[in-house]
Parts: sequence; C-alpha cells; structure tokens
Amino acid sequence: MPVDIIVGAQWGDEGKGKIIDTLGVNTDYVIRFGGGNNAGHTIKVDGESFILHLLPSGVLHKHSKCLLGAGMVIDFKVFLQEIASLEACGFDTEHIFISSRAHLIMPYHIILDSLWEGQRTDKIGTTKRGIGPCYSDKYARLGIRTGDLLDGSFPEKLKNILKTKNDILTKIFNENPLDYDSILSEYNEITQKVSHRIINTETEVQNALAKNKNILLEGAQAMMLDIDYGSYPYVTSSSPTAAGGTVGSGISPRYIRKIIGVCKAYSTRVGEGPFVTEQNNAQGEWLRSKGSEYGSTTGRPRRCGWLDLVVLRYACEINGFTEIALTKLDVLSGLKEIPICVGYELEGEKISGMPASVDILAGASAVYETMPGWNEDISNCKTLSDLPGNARRYIEKMETHTGCPIRFVSVGAGREQFIAVE
Ligand code: IMP
Repeated sequence: MPVDIIVGAQWGDEGKGKIIDTLGVNTDYVIRFGGGNNAGHTIKVDGESFILHLLPSGVLHKHSKCLLGAGMVIDFKVFLQEIASLEACGFDTEHIFISSRAHLIMPYHIILDSLWEGQRTDKIGTTKRGIGPCYSDKYARLGIRTGDLLDGSFPEKLKNILKTKNDILTKIFNENPLDYDSILSEYNEITQKVSHRIINTETEVQNALAKNKNILLEGAQAMMLDIDYGSYPYVTSSSPTAAGGTVGSGISPRYIRKIIGVCKAYSTRVGEGPFVTEQNNAQGEWLRSKGSEYGSTTGRPRRCGWLDLVVLRYACEINGFTEIALTKLDVLSGLKEIPICVGYELEGEKISGMPASVDILAGASAVYETMPGWNEDISNCKTLSDLPGNARRYIEKMETHTGCPIRFVSVGAGREQFIAVE
C-alpha cells in the first residue's frame, strides 16, 4: 500500500513544500487533493526559489506524474502562468494533469470573495482568490468543472450561472455585471491550451495502484484551517486533513501507508481568527524576522507565536499522523529559553481537548512550559546527535506530548538541509 499523505499540522505555511519536494524524489505520482491558489509553497533548488500556488510541489521532479485532484479548485489563468514560469526556467511540464472533476474558479468567484469579505463584520482574512465562493457553488451544485470545458456543456452552464451571479453583483453590491461573451471567448482560448491536461485522474490513479506505484498525496493549508475541524469560521473551505486527501484524490483509505504531519517549530497564522500562543510583541517580531514569516501568496506578515502542543496533539488525533516532520528548528537557535504551550485555560479552569467554539478559543490563555534554548547554528546538522542537547530535548518534548515520532527535522531552506531520523 504505497500511498503516503503529507498534511499541515498547524495553520499552514509549515514548509510542506520542502518536505514534499524532498520526499517526492522516489515517488511515481504526486497528487494535490484540495484547495487552489490560496496555497503558497516555496521550494529552493540549486539556490533558486520557486513559489508555487496551484501546482504540486513535486512538480520539479520530472519522473513523478503530477495530478491536480478532484478536490481542488482551479484558476486556469494562474495555472497557465505557473506552467509558463516553470517552462521559462527549463522545467518540463508535460507530466502535469488535472482531474476533469475539479471545479473551476471563475472570475465572479474572485470578485465575490472580496465583496463578501468586505461586507462581513467577522472578517476571515481570505486570500481573495475566489476559493470560498467556488466551493460554495460546488456544494450548491452550481459549479462548473474542468471537464465541462471538454464536453461542450460549458457555454450553457456559464450562461445559467452568470445570470444569477450578475444579479448578485448588480442588485446586492451595486457592481457592474460581467460580460458573457468575453468570459466565453477567454475560456475558449484557455481550453485550447489546457485540454490535453484535463483527464480522468481517478482512472489513472486506479491503474497506478494496481501496478503498485508510489503515490504521495500533497496537502495544502492545514489542520486548523479545516472546514469541519478548524477554528470555524476562520478557516478555508476545503478539508486539508488526511481524510480530505483520500476524498480529494479518489484513493480509498485502505491504501494509505504513512500520514506525515508537517509542523513548524513555532506557530504562525495568516488571516484572522484565534491564536492562543500568539506573541504580538518583540518576541513575535523576532520570530517573524528570523523565520522570514511573510505570506508567499499575499505577502502579508504572518502572525507569530510559540509552539502549541494542544494544536499539534489535536492534529495528530484528527489526522492519525504516523509521524511528524518538524521544520524550521534552526530559526529557534539563539533563544535562551523557549516557551511551549502544553495546555489551555479559561478563567483559571483547564480546558480539555480543542474547543469547537472560537469564542472559547479567543478567551483561552496558554499554559506554558519553558524549555532551555541553544545558541549553536544547527543548519548543517545531518543527524540527531549533531544537534545540541537542548534542541534534542525540544524534539523529545513534542514526541512525548503527542505520542507521535518525529522522523524528519528540517534545519534550513535548502533541499539538503534536513535530518532523517531512523
Ligand atoms: P481562503 O482559503 O482564501 O478562503 O482563506 C481562508 C483562510 O485560510 C484565511 O485566513 C487565509 O489566510 C487562510 N489560508 C488559506 N490558504 C492558506 C495557506 O496556504 N497558508 C496559510 N493560510 C492560508
């Protein structure tokens, strides 16, 4: 059962791209299963940085077929830009395919994302890429899928939905309507460029499973942004957990071998919503500057704080991690002491588990244990025993609190800067 899943254990931006890029080396297939171009994976190859929003990180390994699964939402303009920029750097892109069941992010989704967000009092801080409105249409069974571009149904579907969307734009928001003919001709052009990439990825995957191929399911976003189990409503609109991986790729849970949770050595969050260990102070600023914590999709400064083991343990439970990949441990070098959150309290009472209510979460305070820090530069460490004792103790604390082993420790942005734990 050679299917592994890699997902984020916190609020996204854990460095999944680097882990996927490193582990993807021996993989026949890399499949992204959810979300759209709200993601941003930064990967470094030969000193050069690539930021991918839509394409799987494994795209740089040309022997792995890259599939964008049925659970994704696709903005074809962004897709074509990413293909063009990879090709401009000499990368082959002929191994990239999209499920004919994935939904299209249409121009009205992007406009409505901003308009709905502008109207809310409890702003989510969305990426304004049309993600929420696109998934809303999918579940209302009003969505347009990539396969509709191929089977001739697109013009009629667009005509029907655009009427309602234009009513919303003009009557509710006082905006100009969108023009049917220009969207249609734009999508006719897009179709010519992408039609050979739109396939029944689910059949392809079943054939791959039958041949015992290695498959890596690539998550975007993360645990606390999950539509069901995250800090709703301050979440994205998809299921970035391991279970979402099987749904969004069309692979039965019975094939899953490893579930790898990627966790940063401290916490960050982009957008609004509760963040119990947030350090809105000089320490948070230090983490932001040392860890270069600025959104790769929107450029927004990320909110920063200490590692939250309540979140990590919850992520282990909901996802069933078989192991954790720890990233950015090198960023913590130079701290005399490092607080780790081991529990939450509300008005002096201990809270057990992860509260469903964001009001409780917003009022909760962190219970910290303080770990001794280390001064050494760890960016060239190759084994656990190369790490300073206090860095090893930090890792052990994470393992004992969650009951999950850490099998991979990233100590720098470069492809080769990691420790594989046997
Ligand atoms: P949306 O996915 O654009 O609707 O945004 C919903 C929330 O999820 C916002 O707080 C975003 O900042 C956050 N979000 C979405 N994608 C990512 C990601 O890849 N990393 C971090 N935060 C994300």
